[in-house]
Amino acid sequence: MEDNNVTSMPRIGDKAPDFKAITTQGPINFPADYSGSWVILFSHPADFTPVCTSEFMTFASMEKQFAEADCKLVGLSVDGLYSHIAWLRTIKEKIEYKGMKDVEVNFPLIEDITMEVAHKYGMLQPGESSTKAVRAVFFIDPKGVIRAVIYYPLSMGRNFAEIYRALIAMKTADAFSIATPADWQPGDDVIVPTAGSCGVAKQRMESKEEMHCYDWFFCTKKLPKDTVLKTILKK
Ligand code: BEZ
Repeated sequence: MEDNNVTSMPRIGDKAPDFKAITTQGPINFPADYSGSWVILFSHPADFTPVCTSEFMTFASMEKQFAEADCKLVGLSVDGLYSHIAWLRTIKEKIEYKGMKDVEVNFPLIEDITMEVAHKYGMLQPGESSTKAVRAVFFIDPKGVIRAVIYYPLSMGRNFAEIYRALIAMKTADAFSIATPADWQPGDDVIVPTAGSCGVAKQRMESKEEMHCYDWFFCTKKLPKDTVLKTILKK
């Protein structure tokens, strides 16, 4: 039986579904308005709720850091515009949390009362809630392609350090044609593409230079932190 609440679920490698929306920063045409930059589109279940408030304060405090990595932020919930405005004003005027205060949310927060965008992006997951968006995070690259997706349940606040790390890792992989191992941070060794022929596999195992091979299919090389940061952060 078809469930009307379940619609598309964009996947890694798909073009980001487009939509026009009203936000706390005026109307947007997504993802066209963000073409040429990375953008993180994220949903939250509801305004005036504690986990979401802690998340917005944290994300807003990191906005400059994301901007330096050429990445814009766009939030969404199925609440209306006036609720969004009132909530963001309350955050700025009243909430002090973990040393953060007077926090201004300058990135757009989409009103999605029709749930059109939430449906398009698979943010409504009825097993968790049929009336609220789950905590979804879509990483969209400068060509408008979805590069990573993370979903969290309503009860769990996101780890924004991990969201930043994921962005930096994807930008580094693109810039240097490498992959990044578990828990990678800028300055750690990176993984070179697996050898595609017996000759290259042999060469790598015999080479004492540049690469360290744990086995023929698992070779790493150094990539200094300042080289990474100089390449992927805006000057
Ligand atoms: C919260 O942000 O605190 C929250 C929102 C919806 C359901 C549960 C928690």
